[in-house]
Amino acid sequence: MAKPLILINLKTYKEGMGSRAHAIATAAQLVASESGVTVGIAPSYIDLHPLAKHFMVPVYAQHVDGAAPGAHTGQITAEALRVAGASGSLVNHSERRLTLADIEASVRALQAQKLGSVVCTNNDITSAAAAALAPEYVAIEPPELIGSGVSVSKANPEIIRKSVAAVHAVNTSVKVLTGAGIQSGECVKIALDLGTDGVLLASSVVKAEDPKTVLRDLASKI
Ligand code: G3P
Repeated sequence: MAKPLILINLKTYKEGMGSRAHAIATAAQLVASESGVTVGIAPSYIDLHPLAKHFMVPVYAQHVDGAAPGAHTGQITAEALRVAGASGSLVNHSERRLTLADIEASVRALQAQKLGSVVCTNNDITSAAAAALAPEYVAIEPPELIGSGVSVSKANPEIIRKSVAAVHAVNTSVKVLTGAGIQSGECVKIALDLGTDGVLLASSVVKAEDPKTVLRDLASKI
């Protein structure tokens, strides 16, 4: 079985850019080597290339467009992500929703570049739809709990259970993450016990005074 993934989305938090992004990546790499857990980061585009070059941890983009290389001003292509050293990208995050056709185009563009895809969803129905595109991961995140400090693992374990079942009913090789309010090793353990392959999180690590301490706790029960 693949190692669980803890994926940290730095969003556009001021605590997650520049030297702070570097510090979070340093903590991610340290905790990954101590624990054997895969710890990835999803920084802003501005920080993606330097972080991917300096660190061994997987670096994901927060969004990718389905556009092919060419005359598309302002688009982020999967090819550009690969050249910058990214391992993959989030797609359809709750804060960056796409149409179904756009989601498919983004996943196909990532697959064509042999990059990972993490398609975010908001319930078990959309999780099943996302699984039909055969991404690397589907990440179920109830929008009302994102950034709330209330953990999906504790507040809504049912949505995790139902989403894992919905995804695997469509495609057993698609892995499942969950996120929203994940903040402790206990939250991660509940998510894994419910059949996920890891967690997607942001504020508990990005806004922490000492991200390393929070990350050590997140990895402690795996
Ligand atoms: O992408 C992860 C995110 O949406 C969850 O945010 O702050 O609740 O961990 P947070």
